[in-house]
Amino acid sequence: MASFGVVNVGHNHPRVIAAAKEQIDKQIHGAVGVTLHESILRLAEKLPGILPGAKDMFFFGNSGSEAVEGTLKLARNITKRPGIIAFTGSFHGRTFGAASITASKAAYRLNLEPFLPSTYFVPYADTYHSPHPNEPEKCVEESLNALQTVFDRVIAPSQVATIIVEPIQGEGGYVTPPKEFLKRLREICTHHGILLTFDEVWTGFGRTGEWFAAQSFNITPDVMAIGKSIASGFPLSAVCAQSDLMKKWDSTVHGTTFGGNPVSCAAANATIDIIRDEGMLANAKKSGSRLIQNLRDLQKKHPVIGDVRGVGLMIGMELILPGSNREPNPDAAKKVLTESLKQGLLLYPAGLRGHVIRFAPPLIVTEQQVDEGTRIVDKALSVV
Ligand SMILES: Cc1ncc(COP(=O)(O)O)c(C=O)c1O
Repeated sequence: MASFGVVNVGHNHPRVIAAAKEQIDKQIHGAVGVTLHESILRLAEKLPGILPGAKDMFFFGNSGSEAVEGTLKLARNITKRPGIIAFTGSFHGRTFGAASITASKAAYRLNLEPFLPSTYFVPYADTYHSPHPNEPEKCVEESLNALQTVFDRVIAPSQVATIIVEPIQGEGGYVTPPKEFLKRLREICTHHGILLTFDEVWTGFGRTGEWFAAQSFNITPDVMAIGKSIASGFPLSAVCAQSDLMKKWDSTVHGTTFGGNPVSCAAANATIDIIRDEGMLANAKKSGSRLIQNLRDLQKKHPVIGDVRGVGLMIGMELILPGSNREPNPDAAKKVLTESLKQGLLLYPAGLRGHVIRFAPPLIVTEQQVDEGTRIVDKALSVV
């Protein structure tokens, strides 16, 4: 699980520890906006080299939710439009703005209303759960038709500031959309002057075998929220965009005390170097393909596996009632998790009913470890 996608380079990588210790000896806090410390400047120089579409200006925060808040504020502030469109199945975080656009489970929204006004949801292009599980094009059409209905009947596109989307849904069930879905969203946003925001908090820093899922799908969003693995466990996140966009913020409308902490930034610089130097993107692709293949082989043997999907090392295995029409099987999922844990393999559920088992190991996972993990899952499924 890489501690919920936070330690993509593995726990306590020696180079992360060394960089953090060195920075602690130099300076622990620097009030960004008043002073600019070296590690934040290095990070601001490094990030454009790994982000899609020459994003060269950043607002650094402390958590993924904070980055998402920043993207929403940026979108409203610079477009002067109120509307925010998100997707069912989304998870964007726990603060009020982020919770307002989260729709993976009603439990995340319980007793919190009213939420941020002018937020709207459209169905995500979730092929497996659509009425046409084998026809991704139809699923994309249905989602985009629903978006068009929102534009026609609820809020005109000229009033929409941003469409915010996870390029692969995490908490919602490790849902990989057809590439066409993201491509069409890009076109729609460009056409209407709406900012396309990718929440890459989960999908970032090599998880999908590229630096970001945007590159895996070859789509360039206008704005990105990144976090989690950015600093290998030190709190850090960022809103990322091109400077011509970022410079349009009204001054003083956004700010931070701790965001861009020097120690976190030093850890982030080390993290990026490690991912590059140790060939972790290639390993995520290689080990990820092997894991998908292994799980698909298990699917032939265990009818409880309804679907195996994913990109790189972000892989979901959905458990269903055998013989049913994709009926969720949370009991089986719970048992597989428990049995696997007994044998030393920590997995975690996702999806509306907790019936999708997610595989998100650190990017250092070897093919041998993938095979060993698969054997444990196989045994656990046999017990179920
Ligand atoms: C896609 C996505 N966005 C935002 C967040 C919120 O991040 P944080 O928990 O760091 O606030 C999460 C957390 O899991 C996430 O998966």
